[in-house]
Amino acid sequence: MSSTPQNPPPTREIEVRGLHKSFGDNEVLRGIDLEVGSGEVVCVIGPSGSGKSTLLRCVNLLEEPTRGQVFVGGTEVTHPDVDIDAVRRRIGMVFQQFNLFPHLSVTDNLTLPQRRVLGRDKAAAAKAAAENLRRVGLSEKADAYPASLSGGQQQRVAIARALAMGPQVMLFDEPTSALDPELVGDVLAVMRMLADEGMTMMVVTHEMSFAREVADRVVFMDGGVVVEQGDPARVIGNPAHERTRHFLSRLLDPAMADVENVEDAQNADDAARKSP
Ligand SMILES: Nc1ncnc2c1ncn2[C@@H]1O[C@H](COP(=O)(O)OP(=O)(O)OP(=O)(O)O)[C@@H](O)[C@H]1O
Ligand SMILES: [Mg+2]
Repeated sequence: MSSTPQNPPPTREIEVRGLHKSFGDNEVLRGIDLEVGSGEVVCVIGPSGSGKSTLLRCVNLLEEPTRGQVFVGGTEVTHPDVDIDAVRRRIGMVFQQFNLFPHLSVTDNLTLPQRRVLGRDKAAAAKAAAENLRRVGLSEKADAYPASLSGGQQQRVAIARALAMGPQVMLFDEPTSALDPELVGDVLAVMRMLADEGMTMMVVTHEMSFAREVADRVVFMDGGVVVEQGDPARVIGNPAHERTRHFLSRLLDPAMADVENVEDAQNADDAARKSP
C-alpha cells in the first residue's frame, strides 16, 4: 500500500441527492443530484417553471422535499431531527425582492435578525452591520431608510444583511431580475467580490455574462431535472443538449422568443381547429 498522501477530495458544502418535490400532483423536482464544493460558485439557469427557485428553497428548507436528501456542510438538513434554525443560520439567502423592513433604517435592518436569530448584543450586531455595509459599499447609507435607496442599493443592503449573519453558503434567487439595467452591475460586482473571497454560492440567474465570468460551473435545469452541467464556457458556448441550446437562443435573442410564442400559439390554434 502506498503511503503517499493524496489530495483530499474537495469539501462538499452543499450536496443534493435524489431530490424530489411535488406540489399536489405537480412534480416540480424529479430527482436532482447536485454538489457544490467549498468556495465554489454554481450558477443555475433554465426556463421559467423548471424548478430553480424550488431547488434553492429546498436547500434551506423553505420547502420540504417530498423525497431525497440535502446536506449542508456535511449535516443532513432533511433529517427529521435536524435543528432547522441552526441550518438556516448557516445559509444566507437573497431573493429577487429585497424584503427589507421599510420602517427600519438600513442599520436596523441588519441588526434585527442578528439579535433575534443569533442573540447578538447590540454592540456586536452594530459592528457586524457596519462591517458588512462597508463590504457592499454602502457605509454612507447606514442611517437611511430603504425607500430612499435605489433598487440596486436595496439589494446590496439585503446582501449585507445576509452576510452579517456569518453564513457558510449564500443562495441567490435572481438577485438582479427586479432591477433597472443600469443598477444590475453594482449588485453583480458585490457578488463577484464574494466569489473572489471564496464564498460558496448557488446563484439562479439569467445574467449569462456573470455566469460565464464568475461561475465555476453552470447547471441547466428543465422540467425539474438537471439536463446538463459543466464549465460555463462549454455549457453556454457549446451546449451538449438541444434543450439547453433552445433556452439560450431564446435568452440571448428575446425577439426570437416572441416569434416562437406567436408560432406556438398559432400551432395550438391550428391543432384546436383540426381536432373534431
Ligand atoms: N408553493 C407552491 N405551491 C404550488 N406550486 C408551486 C409552489 N412553488 C412553485 N410551484 C410550482 O412549481 C413549478 C416550479 O416553480 P419554480 O418557482 O421553482 O420555477 P423557477 O424555475 O424558479 O421559475 P422562474 O424562472 O419563473 O422563477 C411551477 O410550476 C410553479 O407553479
Ligand atoms: Mg424562480
